[in-house]
Amino acid sequence: MDYNQSNTERSDRVILDVRDLVKQFDQSDEVITAVNRVTMKVYEGEFVAIVGASGSGKSTLLHLLAGLDRPNAGSIYIRGRDIVAMSADELGAFRGDFIGMVFQSHNLIPQFTALENILIPTMMRNKSELSYEENLRKLVSSLGIADRLHHLPSELSGGQQQRVAIARALINLPHIVFADEPTGNLDRTNADEVLELLLETKRLLGQTLIMVTHDMTIANRADRIFTMDDGRITLTKR
Ligand SMILES: Nc1ncnc2c1ncn2[C@@H]1O[C@H](COP(=O)(O)OP(=O)(O)OP(=O)(O)O)[C@@H](O)[C@H]1O
Ligand SMILES: [Mg+2]
Repeated sequence: MDYNQSNTERSDRVILDVRDLVKQFDQSDEVITAVNRVTMKVYEGEFVAIVGASGSGKSTLLHLLAGLDRPNAGSIYIRGRDIVAMSADELGAFRGDFIGMVFQSHNLIPQFTALENILIPTMMRNKSELSYEENLRKLVSSLGIADRLHHLPSELSGGQQQRVAIARALINLPHIVFADEPTGNLDRTNADEVLELLLETKRLLGQTLIMVTHDMTIANRADRIFTMDDGRITLTKR
């Protein structure tokens, strides 16, 4: 593996600038510092992998970066906008326009069909001039779930549920995609297919992809790898 070889057209423009980020959880008898003074930059068009032991803070960090949770301290700038300072409404609209998220446990709404789940983010965005139909058709076809759209999540296999979650993350054509173990429940073949789809979409749309994974085959495809250890982050491959 040539660590200097980049598989993307990374620009020098910083899309995500994180400084001294801290997130603590109050447990009954102790305070857990899940994210401990994390500072990092991600460049537009990059594929960044985040690896680290279970409990090291990867999901907590990703939720902060995607604006789904609020830090105790520190700043997060996305495309120059400080998302920590945004009101809940501003942040919701910003997320709808710019951010896609694939959750570790796909978080599909059980009472909604696959199609209804995929379309949730389209209700929360400002890009009303954009129609989603064409993107929907492309996504469900390349993900191989076109014939499963009217089924409930409980009627889908784990791999199909994960593909629905990926379609939901990509439906709004986000600039930046956060993916928390998107291939975690998949076998090698399915994991590779899902990765190829994420990388293909990334290339077509010039997206930035930030992925938590324990799969080093996948992490080694990234432009850079960050490692989390007990809430702290270090760059382990550049
Ligand atoms: N809502 C919460 N309340 C209390 N503690 C939490 C909460 N969420 C996470 N933690 C704690 O924060 C630490 C980091 O958790 P996190 O889920 O970010 O780890 P992770 O690196 O994603 O682990 P895994 O690889 O198992 O998914 C853990 O000690 C966890 O128990
Ligand atoms: Mg996690």
